[in-house]
Amino acid sequence: MNDPIRLLQNHRSIRKFLTTPIEQEKLDAILHSGQMASTSSNMQAYSVIGVTDAELKKRLALLCGNQAYIEQCPIFLVWCADLHRLSAASEMHGTEAQTDTTEHFIIATVDAALAAQNAAVAAESLGLGIVYIGGIRNRIAEVAELLKLPVLVYPVFGMCVGYPDQTPLMRPRLPLAAIFHQETYHTDNELSAINEYDETTREYMLARSEGRANRSWSEQMAERMASPSRLHMQSFLMKQGFLRK
Ligand SMILES: Cc1cc2nc3c(=O)[nH]c(=O)nc-3n(C[C@H](O)[C@H](O)[C@H](O)COP(=O)(O)O)c2cc1C
Repeated sequence: MNDPIRLLQNHRSIRKFLTTPIEQEKLDAILHSGQMASTSSNMQAYSVIGVTDAELKKRLALLCGNQAYIEQCPIFLVWCADLHRLSAASEMHGTEAQTDTTEHFIIATVDAALAAQNAAVAAESLGLGIVYIGGIRNRIAEVAELLKLPVLVYPVFGMCVGYPDQTPLMRPRLPLAAIFHQETYHTDNELSAINEYDETTREYMLARSEGRANRSWSEQMAERMASPSRLHMQSFLMKQGFLRK
């Protein structure tokens, strides 16, 4: 195996950070690596906000469901889907950008995610740790106001970055056969793959919860999928100018 593959396969989310700041050179390398991700038609329909201010991080931690590591990490990156700049570019040429289509919403969201994941891998290669924060969408309107987001920009997720102060267990993934389909999609192995994963993750679940919880992955997912989450998202996105057609 080569080093990049070893690095990718060694990923684990970090939720406890040292207060050590990140060297500017490293931060620049992380962000530049994010920028070099593939981007739909070179649209680069995303922006990232770096939050280092202690008070701002504290408020964001609260808005994201009291996730303390947002406060602890030296920098909290907020990855945003961004059609605002493309709208401005269109205006420069006297045309109106079709920013409210589902397609452009997907493009901007995917662009943000690809850039973020490139940045995450770059950070990990430099000895830093990361955790994505979907909790940023819990109270998204307040986050948007706090970060002064204009229309046509929305935070897809946050990301804590910093030097790790923990070495968590690696979280096992589904068997490859569950996610890889040869030639066409197959559903016949779905249940056996879920059973296999429940079995292989049993030990991890027990170790992670120090022997308390022994709920399987499928049980956890069933519970999670049973209730709708963040129902405010649709109206928020429409208010921001996305997804109207
Ligand atoms: C889009 C996204 C949002 C996430 N949001 C959170 C979050 O709000 N809080 C958290 O502690 N972890 C969050 N995570 C981390 C996942 O829980 C984690 O990646 C997953 O359980 C797999 O574990 P691993 O990253 O350690 O391999 C998020 C991950 C992704 C990709």
